[in-house]
Amino acid sequence: MDIVSIRDFSRAQIEHVLDVAERMLPVAKGDEKSKLLDGKVLGSLFYEPSTRTRLSFEAAMARLGGKSLGFDEPKGSSVAKGETLADTIRMVDAYCDAIVLRHPQEGAARLAGHFAAKPVLNAGDGAGQHPTQTMLDLFTIRKSKGKIDGNHVVIVGDLKYGRTVHSLSEALAMFGAQLTFVAPPTLQMPKEHLKHIQSMGIKPKSGTDLTEAVKDADVLYVTRIQKERFPDPAEYQKVAGAFKIDPALLKDAKKDMIIMHPLPRVNEISPEVDKTPNAKYFEQAFNGVPVRMALLAMVLGAVE
Ligand code: NCD
Repeated sequence: MDIVSIRDFSRAQIEHVLDVAERMLPVAKGDEKSKLLDGKVLGSLFYEPSTRTRLSFEAAMARLGGKSLGFDEPKGSSVAKGETLADTIRMVDAYCDAIVLRHPQEGAARLAGHFAAKPVLNAGDGAGQHPTQTMLDLFTIRKSKGKIDGNHVVIVGDLKYGRTVHSLSEALAMFGAQLTFVAPPTLQMPKEHLKHIQSMGIKPKSGTDLTEAVKDADVLYVTRIQKERFPDPAEYQKVAGAFKIDPALLKDAKKDMIIMHPLPRVNEISPEVDKTPNAKYFEQAFNGVPVRMALLAMVLGAVE
């Protein structure tokens, strides 16, 4: 079983992953020990920078008694000599029991899945999808708000190139959450994703006014403008710093609104917000460990 897109999952399957992740929490925190993945090896191939995704996958593997190998920078591997993704995947497939892949090209994880007999987990394919991030985002929402459905989620930032929000908005639509998209006019949610969301009976609002949208939000999901995806640096400069979450913005928000961010943040969230009870982004980053433990255990057949 590969994990390439959030569309590969039903709502019931996602809920099951979150339930398994909940059971993993004591091991994720280091309070209990586990040998569930004893002897298993994860191949971790990161063709793009990563901190949380790579380290939380490796932490997840280690907490379950397994091991990881791979690269965090293709320059040090045969990729620098011109090896194709297909050949690299064929090799790692022979060395490991599962492969986690981050790659700048959309569709790379799906392609890797064709060349690997072992499960492939998509850790981000260009501006495409980031399904394991979505699982930990949903886990965080469910933990903080008690449920996912019925929440009004405002998603702000780079909706055009941001892969986290492509996967997340589709999953939230599956749960029947109310969605508002806030972005500069040039970075609005791509039509293809909007269509998919609408096909599930959700009518998302789209706009550019964050102050207005925040007033009625239960969850504010903030994202970074994806500088590396802009064909023209001048275009990036036009939208950099378009939105800023600071204490002044929060004045009109619901008291129990939670603020999330997949991180890294550049300057979208002022550090003063960190100490407010609304800030959930660091807890969200930790949740990557139990959720990825659950996903690894499931694809490796160690839990149902
Ligand atoms: C995100 C990504 O790589 O898409 N980071 C992450 O996995 N937590 C978000 C980003 O880079 O802006």
